[in-house]
Amino acid sequence: MIHPSSQQNRLSAEHVEVLCSAISSETGRKFDVTDIEVPFADLCLDPFAVMNVLETVRERTGIELPASLFRDCSSVAEIANKLGATTISAPSGSSISPHGGLVQAAFADIGKLLGKVEDEAGTSNFWSDVHPAQMRLVLAYVNESFARLGSPLSGMAPNTPLSIPPGVLPKHHRVLRGAIFDILKIGGLVERRGDRYVRTSTPVDTTPAEVIYEKLIREHPLHANTHRLLHVTGSRFAECLSGEADPLKLLFGKSKDLLQDFYTNAPMSVVASELLAALLRTVFSKISREQNRAVEILEVGAGLGGTTQFVLDMLVEAGIPFRYVFTDISASFLSAAKARYKDLHPGSIEYLVLDIEKEPPGHLQDRFDAVISTNCIHATKDLIVSCTNARRLVRPGGFFALVEFTTRLYWLDLVFGLLDGWWLFTDDRTHCTTNEAVWKAKLAASGFSDVLWVEGEGGRKPNPQLIIGCTE
Ligand SMILES: C[S@@+](CC[C@H](N)C(=O)[O-])C[C@H]1O[C@@H](n2cnc3c(N)ncnc32)[C@H](O)[C@@H]1O
Repeated sequence: MIHPSSQQNRLSAEHVEVLCSAISSETGRKFDVTDIEVPFADLCLDPFAVMNVLETVRERTGIELPASLFRDCSSVAEIANKLGATTISAPSGSSISPHGGLVQAAFADIGKLLGKVEDEAGTSNFWSDVHPAQMRLVLAYVNESFARLGSPLSGMAPNTPLSIPPGVLPKHHRVLRGAIFDILKIGGLVERRGDRYVRTSTPVDTTPAEVIYEKLIREHPLHANTHRLLHVTGSRFAECLSGEADPLKLLFGKSKDLLQDFYTNAPMSVVASELLAALLRTVFSKISREQNRAVEILEVGAGLGGTTQFVLDMLVEAGIPFRYVFTDISASFLSAAKARYKDLHPGSIEYLVLDIEKEPPGHLQDRFDAVISTNCIHATKDLIVSCTNARRLVRPGGFFALVEFTTRLYWLDLVFGLLDGWWLFTDDRTHCTTNEAVWKAKLAASGFSDVLWVEGEGGRKPNPQLIIGCTE
């Protein structure tokens, strides 16, 4: 029998596929790796159905999964995560086609850099040390918000159904249902019963969020920009939910520099940018040398330019001739970027408004060696539509490189979950951020051939993750 805590007994990607297919047969509905985040509660899996699913998995793979997994986990994604990091992904480079080209070969080496890059950026201990402390702060902000809105969890008797506190704006019901109730569940304060959450008997930690926040900053100063960003909206979460405070103003007013600092200098952002820059450096050094031409790069949703700065610095330092097209849906980011780079790379940078949800103009199609995009595509309605438009920009033999959070971090919901972009998705996602298996399916459906992501030693993955889709 697979024991969830055993390192050797991980589910492979194939095992997850069998599990999905068994669920599909049992429920009579489409269920594949793109559906692994669908809550079991939505699937109406009764105990008999669960037994049948487990029996099918045992027959086809020889693996006996305990039925308790379906009680303790709320989705296949959670089961996959519980049973080990290699569950729903494949090693970087594993899906390289037999004729794998330059990009695919370069990408295969990126996973080897992960350990070093994480050590240098200071993210190696994130999951063991920083994340639990950060989750405690997230839970404290949520508890204090419920209390401020007149529904303190400390005043709820066990078994009381959880409901949305009075006074929360209807548009913010989505962040409560899509994230906050889950945070309370992870904190043990509520449990899921069918499609409801009910209060447990676990007492509320009464340590003030402010005290937890100060401790977090003191003990994990390297991640201070992340904690500060969380503090901006977390400490005013109740007011944001009720409409008394405007999260857009909080984030893009006085705290805009903090936001830019997060995208540029937060250790987790640095890891992703370093990996992306390393890939571009390897591929473009070769192209510019062998083909004696400038490489062409387009950035989608370049925004405050966290990634841009990294990539431009790398290109200049490596002496790679380039043409860079900086784009965003919002023209205001273009003027700020123009001012920022005016002396830096005269003539090599173009600034354009581009909405990746629309088909790009003809003169941009089939043109770029690489299209890159950091923390943007998740905020669009339909990943296949957006990725198809990105593919139209890429020339044959080129690639689309995405940096996206693929492991759920609930602090992001307390910050970005208050903004409309977080909830724009109309495709089959259950949250705007999603895992590698879903990105792989979406990029493949958008016409990309090899889809690869970074996996280091022991199945270690960066978060945000670097994912590429190649064109033939
Ligand atoms: C979270 S910010 C990331 C900014 C930047 N990539 C960075 O890492 O510093 C997301 C950016 O995507 C842009 N964006 C949102 N929807 C877009 C769309 N449909 N097309 C292009 N850009 C979009 C936003 O204006 C914003 O600048």
